[in-house]
Amino acid sequence: MITASMQEFFTQHPDIKYVFFGGKGGVGKTVMAGTAALWRAQQGRRTLLASTNPVHSLSSLLDQNVFGAPTPVNGVPNLFAYEIDTKDTIERSKVELTQKIQWFLKYADIKTRADEFVESATMNPAFEESAMFENMIDLMFEDKYDTYVFDTAPTANTRRLLGMSSVYGMWVNKMMQSREEAKSLRELLSYSRKKEKDPLMDYLVNLRMRMERAKHLLTDAEKTAFFFVTLPEALPIAVIKRFIDWFYEFGIPVGGVIVNMLIDKEGITADTPEFVRNRVAMQDHHMEDIWASFSDTRALVPLFETEVRGVEMLKRTAGQLFKD
Ligand SMILES: Nc1ncnc2c1ncn2[C@@H]1O[C@H](COP(=O)(O)OP(=O)(O)O)[C@@H](O)[C@H]1O
Ligand SMILES: [Mg+2]
Repeated sequence: MITASMQEFFTQHPDIKYVFFGGKGGVGKTVMAGTAALWRAQQGRRTLLASTNPVHSLSSLLDQNVFGAPTPVNGVPNLFAYEIDTKDTIERSKVELTQKIQWFLKYADIKTRADEFVESATMNPAFEESAMFENMIDLMFEDKYDTYVFDTAPTANTRRLLGMSSVYGMWVNKMMQSREEAKSLRELLSYSRKKEKDPLMDYLVNLRMRMERAKHLLTDAEKTAFFFVTLPEALPIAVIKRFIDWFYEFGIPVGGVIVNMLIDKEGITADTPEFVRNRVAMQDHHMEDIWASFSDTRALVPLFETEVRGVEMLKRTAGQLFKD
């Protein structure tokens, strides 16, 4: 039984501004993100559907090139879509980081070249994720839209991405503490009381502020909702169970569960091929687990006869995802 549908959830949370979809690969996260964004736009809210993944799929979902800039979606007033150029962000972060490190090495009188530090820092896969996270919060802070729907990276990445705001916070605090100590020591040694300009410190203070602001928004249950998409199958269910636990741990608001690709049982008779009847029985079995495990199941979306592509198909999906 659905106790509160998708539509009821949004009615009860009228100020939702940031919407995310998580779940195993291939369960329909991109489709649901596109569908929710379309529905929000149809409600008259200026909506941005954004992808921060290095591997994009919005252009293919919408049958329209939306790479590199927020682009109005043809035929849907109020809807914009945007695949962010992650490579470009990473390059820019590298340049910025190099400048900071160069300044620091000079300040600390260390005769090492900055590029060695930068290489080791940026070779880390966390660097790419952090660039994606920065892209996301930049969009949020710009505040040009009423609703943001993010087509997020698969499971583990997403959690790390959001969990990172607390990790960042701790890291920056530690860095700032050592910077303050180094600075006062230096001031003491040079007997100079004059205040030096400190770009690294400015950067750290700014970073910490941004992270705190991001965390504040992402943990606000009136503004943020994270939905989990599953199929009535064992593996995708196991993935979102774990996922939901993590999110409660981080204090990130869970909007509920969406079950996708349910086979329509109407029209199933004894003449229906055994293959289909077997799959229906399997889905029935896993639906029992879903009802028992997720009291916040919001929608059951049927398996369509084709893939979901283009605005017309998204409208049809919205009719199911936001059924009264
Ligand atoms: N209800 C559905 N009926 C039919 N095809 C679907 C449905 N939901 C998703 N699909 C298709 O399944 C594939 C995977 O969906 P996608 O949204 O890309 O998954 P994810 O983003 O979770 O990896 C796509 O080809 C999509 O069109
Ligand atoms: Mg996807």
